[in-house]
Amino acid sequence: MIKKVRTVLVGLGNVNQGLLKILIDKEKEIATKHDLQFIIVGVIDSSGMAVNEKGFGYEELVNLKFNKGKVNEITGFIPKPTEEIAHCVEADLLIDASPVNLTPKNPGTQLIKNALAKGWAIVFANKAPLVLAFNDLCKLAKEHKTKILYSATVCGGLPVINVLKRDLKLISSISLQGIFNATSNFVLEELEKGGNMDEAIREAQRIGAAESDPTLDISGQDTANKLYLIMKSFADFDGLIKDIEMEGIEKVTPEAIKEAEQNNSKIKLVASAYHKGSWHLSVKPTVIAKDSFLGSCNGWEMGLEVKTDLYESISMKNYEADPKGTSAAVLRDMIDMCSQLGKQATLVKA
Ligand SMILES: NC(=O)c1ccc[n+]([C@@H]2O[C@H](COP(=O)([O-])OP(=O)(O)OC[C@H]3O[C@@H](n4cnc5c(N)ncnc54)[C@H](OP(=O)(O)O)[C@@H]3O)[C@@H](O)[C@H]2O)c1
Repeated sequence: MIKKVRTVLVGLGNVNQGLLKILIDKEKEIATKHDLQFIIVGVIDSSGMAVNEKGFGYEELVNLKFNKGKVNEITGFIPKPTEEIAHCVEADLLIDASPVNLTPKNPGTQLIKNALAKGWAIVFANKAPLVLAFNDLCKLAKEHKTKILYSATVCGGLPVINVLKRDLKLISSISLQGIFNATSNFVLEELEKGGNMDEAIREAQRIGAAESDPTLDISGQDTANKLYLIMKSFADFDGLIKDIEMEGIEKVTPEAIKEAEQNNSKIKLVASAYHKGSWHLSVKPTVIAKDSFLGSCNGWEMGLEVKTDLYESISMKNYEADPKGTSAAVLRDMIDMCSQLGKQATLVKA
């Protein structure tokens, strides 16, 4: 029997548009292989929220944004603050793909808390609520017998969080290094070719890979956010994001890139974590050998190299030149969420 999962989309930009397009393509497969149908009962964009208990059509929402429309123009618009959505519609699952807003009291975090308090499950592409309130959100989810999943927040389609949380069981030591931000990796590669930073950022914005605010990519903040989520997920890290030493790529000069090149090396924005008495976490431009694993992560690639006592060294990387991999990662979490909650609670009430 097909379970109907009432779903709210927060944000209708690159990631959730990509999600809707995959849902259009794979609706039948999702029904036959997973017995699921996602009914979009609520949507939010920068203009506000709209609800429809029967469900908005996937195409209807894709067309709305293709035609540069806003949610406040459609039937079902509710002129209330969007953090109230959990009081305006019955739902099972919320997908947060809104822009990163790291202001501590931003309404997006309250929206998530309200949704968790109603027992909704949450799938994140947006890192901000987790960076601001990781412990609170996990606690709330537990209290309300629901779950949060966020594999799309770190390296898009590359299942970094899943592998670290699920597969590296029983390790007692670990160190890691990674390239977690494709936009800055692409910008550095363009600089190697003699290109210009502003033009490279514009190209990343054009294809939808850059953050709404691309200074997050260039300053190292996005990479630090991802490192923080990794550490919170599997290392019982009780530090704060400000404990991560952070330097962006703004000051990387063509001369420094040339010098690295002469030494058969490259400059990459590298996140690293190792434990010596306490955790040492950093994000900074780093000279690395061209023929090393991270040195081989070019342009739109992101990668992670972990060294552990039990599993020795594991490396993985992906190529993600548009947000489709992230949209697919959101959908993978939506499906996983339904099977995880299906076992422990009544996720699907419709
Ligand atoms: N793009 C990627 O490759 C990628 C990869 C991994 C993670 N992410 C994360 O996914 C999230 C979404 O990225 P994106 O590329 O889809 O962004 P985007 O294209 O800029 O879309 C953002 C969407 O959020 C809406 N929005 C703006 N302010 C809002 C608010 N206060 N509350 C709710 N919605 C609001 C926008 O409304 P309008 O339509 O009215 O402008 C738009 O629909 C970000 O947090 C990003 O860090 C993105």
